[in-house]
Amino acid sequence: MILVTGGLGYIGSHTCVALQRAGHALTIVDNLANSKIGVLERIRALGGGSVEFHRADLRDGPALAAAFERHPVEAVIHFAGYKAVGESVAKPLEYYDNNIGGTFVLLDTMARFSVHRIVFSSSATVYGDPQRLPLTEDHPLGAVNPYGRTKQFIESILTDVAAGTPGFRHATLRYFNPMGAHPSGRLGEDPRGIPNNLFPYITQVAIGRLQKLRVFGNDYDTVDGTGVRDFIHVMDLAEGHVAALRYLLEKDRSITANLGTGRGNSVLEVVGAFERVTGIRIPHEFAPRRPGDVASCYADVSRAFAELGWKTKLGIEDMCRDGWAWQSANPQGYPD
Ligand SMILES: NC(=O)c1ccc[n+]([C@@H]2O[C@H](COP(=O)([O-])OP(=O)(O)OC[C@H]3O[C@@H](n4cnc5c(N)ncnc54)[C@H](O)[C@@H]3O)[C@@H](O)[C@H]2O)c1
Repeated sequence: MILVTGGLGYIGSHTCVALQRAGHALTIVDNLANSKIGVLERIRALGGGSVEFHRADLRDGPALAAAFERHPVEAVIHFAGYKAVGESVAKPLEYYDNNIGGTFVLLDTMARFSVHRIVFSSSATVYGDPQRLPLTEDHPLGAVNPYGRTKQFIESILTDVAAGTPGFRHATLRYFNPMGAHPSGRLGEDPRGIPNNLFPYITQVAIGRLQKLRVFGNDYDTVDGTGVRDFIHVMDLAEGHVAALRYLLEKDRSITANLGTGRGNSVLEVVGAFERVTGIRIPHEFAPRRPGDVASCYADVSRAFAELGWKTKLGIEDMCRDGWAWQSANPQGYPD
């Protein structure tokens, strides 16, 4: 049994489908802080395996322990947390409490149940402003906002716990920019309010929920002046977790690895790809740069390939096609 925290969220839901297809039985723990219960039935239908669900907050130790009690847990995949950079600046204590506090209770509960394997959702944000590109895992860390600092701190906690606990192994996965959706159009990204990420913003303009895409900065030193990011299809990212889990269970070593494509695309290139794939024009306007945004950010992905045997298979147009299939079939996101 694999226990998945935050398994009803965007990346977690796609990963739960991939894990079932790889033959794993799952227990999901989620408090629905940023997801809806209707996702569960879709995860079950698409994955075709066994999925238990516990509605619980990670910080509630007894409720979390109840999820560990039912079946022996082989490993944990830990997605649960808050993820909005801007909100983390406004509400740092909530971010430290939920992300670090939640991880603390999780690790403590794992220790009590002698569970020694964890895959953790880290982020490219831990690198801060890149000193060189592509970003390799040994690039100095220097998160520039509270959200990124929670990730950096949790990485240190995992290293310390591994050093102090014989047999404890972690796979720390630094995601670049996940985008797209399950190709069925049944699962996808369902942000509340105005999206923080580029792609849901584009699709909400396409369906008419928002009028115009605001592009933050067109004077960066990049191919067309707009920011460049390493966009990765969420299905490729999901497979990255299956590979990391296999690594932990078979190789019995810890690893920290970037998960990206290794290529950068500018904001305007993504808009162009979306327009080509869907035939829908996306009106956009330029706005000033956002504080803390960097010009370019993309991964060196050689470690993930060498160690996990994983690399991405899908490109920007696949992300646009599948993301659009989701948004057009579910214009209001998941039902309440
Ligand atoms: N989406 C991205 O761009 C991105 C990039 C890098 C890293 N990450 C990290 O990946 C992970 C998953 O991201 P996502 O995009 O799927 O986010 P998401 O918000 O869609 O999913 C997170 C899930 O965790 C749940 N959750 C939050 N706090 C909880 C708690 N205390 N107890 C139980 N459940 C809780 C939420 O209800 C939600 O279902 C997060 O840790 C995020 O920081 C995301």
